[in-house]
Amino acid sequence: MAKPDSGPASTCEGLEQELWMAHISDERIPNNVNLAEDKRLQRALEQWQPNFLQWWMEMGPSGFQAHQVYLRTAVSVNADGWAHFDFVKMPDYRWGIFLADPVVDRKIGFGDPLGRPVWQDIPGEHRNTLQRLIVTQGDTEPASVEQQRMLGHSCPSLYDLRNLFQVNVEEGRHLWAMVYLLHRFFGREGREEAEELLMRRSGNQDRPRILGAFNEPIDNWLSFYMFTMFTDRDGKYQLLALAESGFDPLSRTTRFMLTEEAHHMFVGETGIGRVVQRSAELGRQAKNGNPRELGGIDLPTLQKYMNLWYSLSLDLFGSEVSTNAASFFAAGLKGRVKEEKFEDHLALQGTYTMELPRQDGVLAAEEVPLRSAMNEVLRDGYVEDCQRGVDRWNKILAEAGASERLRLPSRRFHRHQGIFANMNFDPDGRLLSKEEWERRRDEWLPSAADKSYVKSLQAKPVDKPGEMANWIAPPPRGINNRPIEFTYVRAEA
Ligand SMILES: [Fe+2]
Ligand SMILES: [Fe+2]
Repeated sequence: MAKPDSGPASTCEGLEQELWMAHISDERIPNNVNLAEDKRLQRALEQWQPNFLQWWMEMGPSGFQAHQVYLRTAVSVNADGWAHFDFVKMPDYRWGIFLADPVVDRKIGFGDPLGRPVWQDIPGEHRNTLQRLIVTQGDTEPASVEQQRMLGHSCPSLYDLRNLFQVNVEEGRHLWAMVYLLHRFFGREGREEAEELLMRRSGNQDRPRILGAFNEPIDNWLSFYMFTMFTDRDGKYQLLALAESGFDPLSRTTRFMLTEEAHHMFVGETGIGRVVQRSAELGRQAKNGNPRELGGIDLPTLQKYMNLWYSLSLDLFGSEVSTNAASFFAAGLKGRVKEEKFEDHLALQGTYTMELPRQDGVLAAEEVPLRSAMNEVLRDGYVEDCQRGVDRWNKILAEAGASERLRLPSRRFHRHQGIFANMNFDPDGRLLSKEEWERRRDEWLPSAADKSYVKSLQAKPVDKPGEMANWIAPPPRGINNRPIEFTYVRAEA
């Protein structure tokens, strides 16, 4: 452990300083941002870290802070370093700061500064915009931890409990990653924003999180799987767009975060896949064909949860026609997914045809300048990606001999952002009157009865090694070659 350069004024202060040094070191905070040499950054993080830990204890997973959890920790960006498995108590998790390896001679790949060298520091004229982008992304990370904090008490197995905590600590690490950027590049304002990230609270009336989906409660495991399937996937697309950024530290940070996000979406997709599988099994056994008869979750209920989280996640992409999106692209700050696959990186000539509501509410095709349609371009890739996951769920149903299928609702359904926000559509995208929407809402979104049914299945945790809740099938395999019945989470002996 390194000692501070100059001797402390008193023993007490010395002890305190030594404690901070114990925390802010390469050992405690694994990193590849040269933290050991950067005293200013160290000092900023030293100030922030106790507040982060306090937030984690208050708003992180409830009831399990003293448990030993079999977690994956990134200790470097190398192939053998980013997935190190061991038992750790969550407050002792090593929240590292990692940037993906630099690309030599990287050039800005789109927008007006196309072809210029990427920025290693903030270009003054884009400072506010970049700060906003980073804060908005950063705010989602602690928000999701807050949303999920009670789920441990109703887990369907120790395997799932561990996956929940893995997602939680990694979202904590993503917060560190964004706070690193704020501290390193944005001076006092950045430090203030980093504090604010710990002050807002998901669902709080007075100090809510910035984006809508991150203020919705996740109080059951269906919502958790749907969230990691659909909302984390929005995160994937936002990160892919930021990975193209001309601001190189942001690009490198987000590229590394994507490796961890892949696991979150795995948890969501396979979680719902296992519920679907169990639903088909129980449906076959039930006299009336309804899995609810045997304590399972029926497909119409699953479909409603999917409609909810998919539509909330579509909102996160912002408005279909957006001057903000156009200016992010123009400035070289936020690109398209895999920008190199496109031919025209200026996007000044092209148009995007979308169905927009006319004054009378009827939809009509309209040509929108391509730069203004960048949110929709990003959303297109997202919708296709979601569809691939839904196809895999339907394959499980087909193989189980079930005739029902799940499907993504129209992207106009249940929207609160963008041009469809104040209109009502059914899942097929048909325009409805407000009265009809209100009368039929419970056909398409979880009703109070659906919610209380799902809750009744998850009243108690299933927390004995190898046990699985009745409403979900076991996973095909355990984590890191461990058996499914491994004790992935254990109370401290
Ligand atoms: Fe994240
Ligand atoms: Fe995530």
